[in-house]
Amino acid sequence: MHFGDILEGTGSGSFYVFDENTAPLFGREMLEVLNDRYTVLPAGEQYKHLATVETVLEKCLSFGLARDSTIIAVGGGVVCDLTAFAASVYMRGCRCILIPTSLLSMVDAALGGKTGVDFGGYKNMVGTFYPAEEIRVCTRFLQSLPEAEYVNGLAEVIKHALLGNRNLWTLLTEEKEKILARDSELMTQVVDYSLQVKGHIVEEDFREEGNRAFLNLGHTFGHALETAGGFETWSHGVAVAWGIRVALSAGVALRVTSPAYAERVNDLLDSYGYPSSADADSSRVLQAMEHDKKKRGGTLRFVLQKDFGETFITDIDSKIVEKAVTAHLHSS
Ligand SMILES: NC(=O)c1ccc[n+]([C@@H]2O[C@H](COP(=O)([O-])OP(=O)(O)OC[C@H]3O[C@@H](n4cnc5c(N)ncnc54)[C@H](O)[C@@H]3O)[C@@H](O)[C@H]2O)c1
Repeated sequence: MHFGDILEGTGSGSFYVFDENTAPLFGREMLEVLNDRYTVLPAGEQYKHLATVETVLEKCLSFGLARDSTIIAVGGGVVCDLTAFAASVYMRGCRCILIPTSLLSMVDAALGGKTGVDFGGYKNMVGTFYPAEEIRVCTRFLQSLPEAEYVNGLAEVIKHALLGNRNLWTLLTEEKEKILARDSELMTQVVDYSLQVKGHIVEEDFREEGNRAFLNLGHTFGHALETAGGFETWSHGVAVAWGIRVALSAGVALRVTSPAYAERVNDLLDSYGYPSSADADSSRVLQAMEHDKKKRGGTLRFVLQKDFGETFITDIDSKIVEKAVTAHLHSS
């Protein structure tokens, strides 16, 4: 597959950041055209730290990039987040273009201006708000994405639909086969609807002082599961899908969520193969939530839904939390 066209017009003074899985998608010839003005980072969250940003900044300096130069990320959320962070601090901010290549980065990480790296054992602890000047999406990149990464991104697509996009919900329910087959044309539509949801929310609340937190639907519970599994057992997406189920159960227990709606969402998650129950120790999951609570100044806010597109943020009594969490756990 040829991807050279996506780099067209990015300018001869630009600098490109790939990772070891995205650089090969362009082939030797295309990379040669870039005239060494690129770097290939090791892939993975474990490299999302300040030392990698420093590597990018050093390269930018050695190529004499100026404030009006452009740094271009070509990769998943890790490459996008850390490249945008580097762009936001290089000479106090140079131009930045993001070319997301994983589903998660297309529908989530590239849009919204949050940049950053992991620090001190915490994810995304150091970063800036710095929206990219341009985001170039090409769903043909999805063809080479490992299945687990694809499933990871689909959970965020489902979340975006629940936040209130009926067209996206219809595609997810009626075009499942094509979505799972990564049909490029259909996925362009899926990504577009997904970005409409996130774009609308971010426009209203860029700095997450209010409703941007709706995007965290399923994330408080999901993050606790990811933490309990040492970030190795469950991918972010599988944990978020699980977290959405727990949030719906908590809402039903509180008599705020329509049980029929909860059932419809659970059916959709089932149809995409997301597990309804995780093999984990409840005390570890609840402990992870306590830890998160301390980090957030003693309160945990949960994103719940009354129904499709009817989202709100609330505190929940710890007994209800415990009940909802344990209802979705089992131990082998
Ligand atoms: N800034 C934000 O608002 C925001 C939102 C959500 C997530 N994120 C961040 O995004 C990161 C996760 O993103 P991710 O899931 O894309 O992870 P990732 O960047 O690690 O990519 C996942 C894997 O897929 C590979 N890959 C990417 N595109 C490929 C392609 N087309 N073909 C083959 N392999 C490919 C990568 O090399 C990597 O091994 C996390 O660090 C998270 O914090 C940021």
